[in-house]
Amino acid sequence: MTTLNFTYLPGDGIGPEVGDAAIAVLRAISDKFGHTLLPEFHLIGGAAIDAVGQPLPAETFESCERTGAILLGAVGGPKWDHLKGADRPELGSLLPLRKELNLYANIRPCAPFPALIDNAPLKRERLEGVDFVVMRELTGGIYFGQKGRDVNGAYDECRYSEAEIRRIAIKAFDLAATRKKKVTSVDKSNVLETSRLWRETVIDVATNYPDVELEHLLVDAMTMHMLTHAQDYDVILTENMFGDILTDEASVLCGSMGVIPSASLSDGKTGMYEPIHGSAPDIAGEGKANPIAMILSAAWMLRLSFGLDKEAALIEAAVEAALEQGQTTGDLGGTLTTAQVGDWIASHVSQ
Ligand code: NAD
Ligand code: IPM
Ligand code: MN
Repeated sequence: MTTLNFTYLPGDGIGPEVGDAAIAVLRAISDKFGHTLLPEFHLIGGAAIDAVGQPLPAETFESCERTGAILLGAVGGPKWDHLKGADRPELGSLLPLRKELNLYANIRPCAPFPALIDNAPLKRERLEGVDFVVMRELTGGIYFGQKGRDVNGAYDECRYSEAEIRRIAIKAFDLAATRKKKVTSVDKSNVLETSRLWRETVIDVATNYPDVELEHLLVDAMTMHMLTHAQDYDVILTENMFGDILTDEASVLCGSMGVIPSASLSDGKTGMYEPIHGSAPDIAGEGKANPIAMILSAAWMLRLSFGLDKEAALIEAAVEAALEQGQTTGDLGGTLTTAQVGDWIASHVSQ
């Protein structure tokens, strides 16, 4: 029996909708295995701005730091788009949380569910057998450099230290060593100095992994290769902004933005788990959001933060069953609401 004490940050837009569905599934799994579910609900993002005037209240951060396991929906939306800099939900809550907790390794999988292959706009033969993971650097690069305005316009500085590149490269090689033994490092080394250091450092790290193949691709070419021969990839290692963009593209291979979870990890025990999608203001409040990315993120939290492999695998099997039986939301051609998908998966894990 485990006490599942984690920080639950539903956030904005569809965040609370997909969050409720994930909590229903976590409740079902806790009941089944005799665990105690102890989520600590806290405000973040626009919801926190509205309630207490700041995007990352001190008690929210304190809970995240103390529990070390965070399940987050999404932050941001049109209501807060007029805000600038750290007053914004994105720059004032999500980014500092990632930075302060040193969650530098963001893992985003792309392995299309067999039941969803025909939902993707690509031909079946381009999708069968696709199974890669993007290892996205999450606490450096252009997101965290000096930004501002001056008489000439605006600027966003992009910096990477060798140590920052080395530690994420090690994560990528360690992961590849347990998988198909290939790392594809994506950069823009024909133009950017940070990318030149990136490439040199990755080549150096690779010398410690003689069994893992290393290839380099430029990011513009990668956007094309991902659509034409995604089967070639195992672990795609890339910097912060390229990883953000490439993983939204990867979601197209998987049939929907609503099915890709993520884990953001540090060297210690702290982990944050969140879908790769955002707050989806275009469908928020309508019960249309697909909760599967959030439910899979919760499963990853069980596996990686609480060591509960069996429980995580049961949730993943229930998700697969839901997809095979068409128990899905509209983005996948189904007719169920967010809550109905959550309840279906919850009752499936209870069986
Ligand atoms: P988005 O990911 O919210 O939505 C992109 C498209 O995908 C929309 O058409 C949306 O309806 C659809 N979509 C997303 N999630 C879905 C789901 N679960 N089920 C079905 N369809 C889904 O990206 P956006 O519209 O560019 O951004 C909206 C807001 O979200 C912005 O304020 C942005 O900053 C924020 N955002 C937050 C996070 C985060 O908190 N981690 C991530 C991305 C974007
Ligand atoms: C994501 C989001 C965030 C990012 C935004 C909201 C800051 O797009 O998690 O993918 O760019 O990292
Ligand atoms: Mn993104």
